[in-house]
Amino acid sequence: MRKVMAVLAAVLLVSGCAPVATPEPSVPPASPTASAPAASPDASSAAPETSFPEASETPAPTPQWDVATASSLQVVVNKLRPMDPPDFAPELVAVSTGQEGGELVRPELDAALRELDAAMRAAIGEGTYVTSSYRSSALQAQYYQDAIARFGQAAADTTSARPGHSEHQTGLAIDVMSTALECRLARCFGETVAGRWIAANAWEHGFVVRYPEGSDAVTGYAWEPWHLRFVGAEVSTAMHESGTATLEEHFGLEPAPGYAEPAP
Ligand code: DAL
Ligand code: ZN
Repeated sequence: MRKVMAVLAAVLLVSGCAPVATPEPSVPPASPTASAPAASPDASSAAPETSFPEASETPAPTPQWDVATASSLQVVVNKLRPMDPPDFAPELVAVSTGQEGGELVRPELDAALRELDAAMRAAIGEGTYVTSSYRSSALQAQYYQDAIARFGQAAADTTSARPGHSEHQTGLAIDVMSTALECRLARCFGETVAGRWIAANAWEHGFVVRYPEGSDAVTGYAWEPWHLRFVGAEVSTAMHESGTATLEEHFGLEPAPGYAEPAP
């Protein structure tokens, strides 16, 4: 051990720098009690073994996320994971970027959306425009019934969540287009300059496109390029870096293609 410390001291003297510490999370974990994301396969091999032999024996602490509680910024709500508690009423603020009118979100989302909006304006000259945000259980029920009336039960279940199962009820989801006002709640939004920019860059501001193309069997929903979910920059960055498409896969949760119960 003494020999190892001597080597380490020599390395530090020569290089003039200290070992790099694990960066602080940009959004603190909401609770230490829930399931954790998979550890990075590279976490234990980052430091050269000759310089830091203990590094491979003591893995860096893995952040813990509360994916179960409705108030958590990392909560995962889907067809198999109803909102808990079902009557959760989030703290809400008015959306402070472009919006249709009366749009409300969690304050953490609004702060991140301002950054996303500014970055998007700087990059493509269009800002964000929110068309849907927080929904009460009653409003979600109305949207769900409207979808059934328009498309039938089976198709409605691929585009609209039953009340109690929509992450819009958490205040952490928004439906967006750009200030160019093209392709409102339509898949063609994914082909617009703004839709492509959001898909490529929203992660930098803590958002994920929650229902990506080709992940229906995991999320239970068809591609929604307009539906953004705020999860905090640490989670969105980790998903971007690992190329993980969905929250279910990132947190190691079971796929949710359908409900446990038949339609009421
Ligand atoms: N469109 C999404 C799935 C919702 O209704 O929450
Ligand atoms: Zn949505």
